[in-house]
Amino acid sequence: MANEKQIHPFVDKRIEDYCKENTSPESEVLRYIDRETHLRFLRPKMISGNWQGNLLKILSLLVEPKNVLEIGTFTAYATLCLAEGLVKDGVVHTIERDILLEDFILETIEKFGYQDKIKLHMGNAMEVIDTIEGDFDMIFIDADKANYPAYLEKCISRLRSGGLIIADNILWYGKVVLPVKESDKETKAIKQFNETLSQDPRFDAVILPIRDGIMVARKK
Ligand SMILES: C[S@@+](CC[C@H](N)C(=O)[O-])C[C@H]1O[C@@H](n2cnc3c(N)ncnc32)[C@H](O)[C@@H]1O
Repeated sequence: MANEKQIHPFVDKRIEDYCKENTSPESEVLRYIDRETHLRFLRPKMISGNWQGNLLKILSLLVEPKNVLEIGTFTAYATLCLAEGLVKDGVVHTIERDILLEDFILETIEKFGYQDKIKLHMGNAMEVIDTIEGDFDMIFIDADKANYPAYLEKCISRLRSGGLIIADNILWYGKVVLPVKESDKETKAIKQFNETLSQDPRFDAVILPIRDGIMVARKK
């Protein structure tokens, strides 16, 4: 939606609007999720939205993943985008800890016929990740910012060569370039995550200033 609230304060609003206006339009399913999210849930701005959603969809179509991991489902907007490029029998494993979201996520998956492609795991991602078997072709980290470095550590060994780690809110409303308070665990963790991943010789990593910043890193 061209009128999504601007959350990245450093990109000129006209540039951001122009980018959104010249991004492919939302599918009917995603429009439904976006509308229901804004009507029914608190903090709807957490949703990926069409601009970022198209990036996730394109990356998924390029990777053609068999197994995807998403940390932080919310209302499953990004989950459906990540499912776009799945090969036959491929699955997006998505983890959410807020039980108030469970019914909506499951109803939406069912309503639009994604029940074979999306597996919802309820609980704390830090514990749930270890209960999901196998390696992943794409991992989208989008929850629990203070633990980004810990998720990175868990995820690296679970990502196949040629696979992608994608992480949202990597500019953290611009706080990554401002002096960081000792008590600000989230900004510190995000900065550590960015530095670690961009310096890791096993990855090619890039930050895109889309919305609140998104990291895309490919394992060599
Ligand atoms: C930014 S939202 C995810 C948005 C979603 N990926 C999208 O793009 O539309 C973050 C979600 O992660 C969930 N969450 C936060 N901490 C979590 C944790 N430790 N384990 C699992 N889910 C968590 C929150 O309840 C929230 O729904």
